[in-house]
Amino acid sequence: MIRVSSIKGGVGKSVIATNLSVALKQEGYNVLLVDADFSNPCVGIYLGMESVNRGFQDVVKGKADPAEVIIAHTPSGVKVLIQVITGEQMQMTEEEAGATNKLLRSLDYDFVIVDTQPGIQWSAALDSYDEALIVTLPTEASCVSAIRLLEHYRKANVKTSIVVNRFTNEEFDLSIDDIEKICEEKVISVLSEDDNVRVAVSQSTPVYMFNSGSPFSVGVRNLAALLASRIEQPSKPSNPTPQ
Ligand SMILES: Nc1ncnc2c1ncn2[C@@H]1O[C@H](COP(=O)(O)OP(=O)(O)OP(=O)(O)O)[C@@H](O)[C@H]1O
Ligand SMILES: [Mg+2]
Repeated sequence: MIRVSSIKGGVGKSVIATNLSVALKQEGYNVLLVDADFSNPCVGIYLGMESVNRGFQDVVKGKADPAEVIIAHTPSGVKVLIQVITGEQMQMTEEEAGATNKLLRSLDYDFVIVDTQPGIQWSAALDSYDEALIVTLPTEASCVSAIRLLEHYRKANVKTSIVVNRFTNEEFDLSIDDIEKICEEKVISVLSEDDNVRVAVSQSTPVYMFNSGSPFSVGVRNLAALLASRIEQPSKPSNPTPQ
């Protein structure tokens, strides 16, 4: 079970969680994508599944078994637990978060990819995660936020990996070396700034399906391959080369 996280908002968590799930599915894995962002849920919008009216909230509040409300994203085959967008913002206690994580983890999936809301969340509900991907932009402000999240996860004994999104390799971006030095953590994936992402979002289609050869999609494929190699061969080294 992997959480996709950041302190700063808008860095690309939902796009990455969605496309990573599709890439893993296309590699033959059984994948559950969970929208656990109860401040600005958007997995349903990104996948064209906004009309779904039951999902994560019902599982958290004990009103439904996961099997009753998990549905397939038909074009990709990814199973999805949607966060239904309602007028009132959902509240979840730490106990509910912990119980929900344990329940999700007990399901029969190769990967459970959890899209989260920005910010620092509880520690006690983190022990179900095998890994937290921390998404950062190649900017100092974003990296400073990533460091705070890294420290939080380290205290909670959660394995962390940094994913750099919207990388342009232009001189005003931090280099990957700079980011690794600032964060004192290896960057496992570099995802390019890519107009195809915005076009795909506007069409409610994962860019991985819209254009599997686009720079962002190629980066996501490499990230999926790396995560897959960890469950197949846990000691395989990572490849942080920009795509
Ligand atoms: N690599 C990229 N290239 C171009 N645009 C991108 C890229 N990644 C994300 N975006 C754009 O950035 C916007 C925000 O992405 P996304 O919703 O995934 O961020 P988020 O971190 O989940 O935000 P929030 O913190 O609100 O949940 C999207 O509209 C998407 O089109
Ligand atoms: Mg999001």
